[in-house]
Amino acid sequence: MFEKTFAKTAGLAILVLTASLATSQAPPAVLTIHADQPVSAVSPTLYGLMTEEINFSYDGGLYAEMVRNRTFRDSWEGVPYWYVLEEGNARAKMEIEHQSGPSEALKSSLRLDVEQADAKNPAGVLNVGWWGMPLRPGSSYKGSFYAKADTGGLGPVTVSLVEDNSGKTVATTRVDGLTTAWSQYEFALKTGAIAPSAANHLVLSVGHAGTLWLDLVSLFPPTYHDRVNGNRIDLMEKLAAMHPAFLRFPGGNYLEGDHISERYEWKKTIGPLVDRPTHPSPWRYHSSDGMGLLEFLGWCEDLKMQPVLAVYAGYSLMGEHVNPGADLEPYVQDALDELEYVTGGTGTKWGAERAKDGHPEAFKLTYVEIGNEDWFDKSGSYDERYAQFYKAIKAKYPDLQLIATTPVKGIRPDVVDDHYYLRATQFFHDTTHYDKTDRGGPKIFVGEWATREGFPTPDFGAALGDAAWMTGMERNSDIIVMASYAPLLVNVNPGGMQWETDLIGYDAMKSYGSPSYYAQVLFSSYVGDHTLGSKVEGGGDKFFYSITGNAAKKHLYLKLVNAASTDQAVEIEMTGAKVASTAKLVSLSAKDTQATNTLTDPERIVPVQNSLHDVSSHFRHTMPGYSIQVIEFDVQ
Ligand code: AHR
Repeated sequence: MFEKTFAKTAGLAILVLTASLATSQAPPAVLTIHADQPVSAVSPTLYGLMTEEINFSYDGGLYAEMVRNRTFRDSWEGVPYWYVLEEGNARAKMEIEHQSGPSEALKSSLRLDVEQADAKNPAGVLNVGWWGMPLRPGSSYKGSFYAKADTGGLGPVTVSLVEDNSGKTVATTRVDGLTTAWSQYEFALKTGAIAPSAANHLVLSVGHAGTLWLDLVSLFPPTYHDRVNGNRIDLMEKLAAMHPAFLRFPGGNYLEGDHISERYEWKKTIGPLVDRPTHPSPWRYHSSDGMGLLEFLGWCEDLKMQPVLAVYAGYSLMGEHVNPGADLEPYVQDALDELEYVTGGTGTKWGAERAKDGHPEAFKLTYVEIGNEDWFDKSGSYDERYAQFYKAIKAKYPDLQLIATTPVKGIRPDVVDDHYYLRATQFFHDTTHYDKTDRGGPKIFVGEWATREGFPTPDFGAALGDAAWMTGMERNSDIIVMASYAPLLVNVNPGGMQWETDLIGYDAMKSYGSPSYYAQVLFSSYVGDHTLGSKVEGGGDKFFYSITGNAAKKHLYLKLVNAASTDQAVEIEMTGAKVASTAKLVSLSAKDTQATNTLTDPERIVPVQNSLHDVSSHFRHTMPGYSIQVIEFDVQ
């Protein structure tokens, strides 16, 4: 009896639910596009990248160095990621030696005291890498280290790559010529027919008793564009697919540091690695500064991006600030020196320094950001600090566009940087944010933004929030000159993430793009140079669109976002141009908002390309629930 009643009730409930689902479908959207009515320009630099050392973005991420804690500075307690190796009856111990290092910048080193060792029973140290050491078959690895010994007879140093599980050596070489003075030694290792794996470590060992000092132990796999001291290939390829127009660096909080003494000091990040002292980053780990100022610029060069250079402006995260006026002058001068390093001819002091570092050609620079998120400076000093930088920089570089990190009084900034970290629903409600912004005021740089849903990387619900927001940015990109999602990168290993919801995830071997990443790829791959007249009537409150055109390419790009769970019909009325009867349709969609990509399921949600047939000046298109689509029309 109970079962029957329940079944009846349940059946009724299903009926009611089905009926309510059926009626909850949004009314058709009637979208009228005036293809012959350009409205405003789309900034050619709209889509770009924001980056900083966070979530092991460079060290343990994009920067391809395989040795972790290569200068033994990660911690003042112990020697993390390094272990003593004692084969057979060998005996050794290691500790940090504070009195000896290979340079002024690296004044300390690792001291290995080998009490007992011979050729068959070597002693040494091993490094476990950044959550492993990624090795691939038939690959070449280039390494180096600085070393000295207490006697010339301690060497040679055997350098090997060893499998963690089997203990098998997969590549090995010998470095001879060790002396009692610091010197750099280079080596090469080549793997054979091994299985790709990160379960490996690097060993440096000797077969004699004595003392060995080591520093700056480095090992690189093949890098993007074969750059020395370069970047991981898979991650660079993912970034290239985003067609970024610019790179905002070096932060973010990373620019500011927790304390003034821990700010990003660009002068300590240039030149040979041995001259870079490294520094603590605000994201709770030590930065190797292998990704220094010139490496950032090389990254720009590789991906044909323009640099958006942020200069330290006298505020650090723990609330310390430098008083405007005389106290700030050295920081202003430092920024001027930095601009000269980036843009100056080889006849200038800092341009010559750049040439010495291997890059005689000056870089083109348009945008310079003064600080980061200075609304946090409760002393209220930013207006004056900005003005001081502005006057000094404009006096020497009148054409540079100077970005303020918050609205300022007194001087009108060229550009103001706005940041948004929101939930998807907040973005849905705010897509018109810039529709009424005063076009006579400063331009806008949306220098950091993201829908923060899903971790470590965003889920599809976040991608919908992002896509909705991007339709609003495109519509307003006469005033929004640049926009960049943040953070960009995350090492998904335990302990790798300091900030939830990051665009691209990876471990030592592999990487993947989140649904939000693919939304970015779609938006930046299909964008015109001007917006077009358009209007929409009907449609649900989770339906968003953007229409841009490129007259030279004879393309119109219609972006559609249906963030509702149900289908959305769109009646498209095209006036002012005849479009080809077949159009390209690229779709990114999922069955639910929690759906996402992961390292083990990296392509669950990726753009799918199709053709739309029977396209005409009036046609009906139905979007599935939870979908982001681009229709590329050919104008005839
Ligand atoms: O993107 C993460 C952090 O968010 C940035 O470092 C900072 O600028 C913002 O608060």
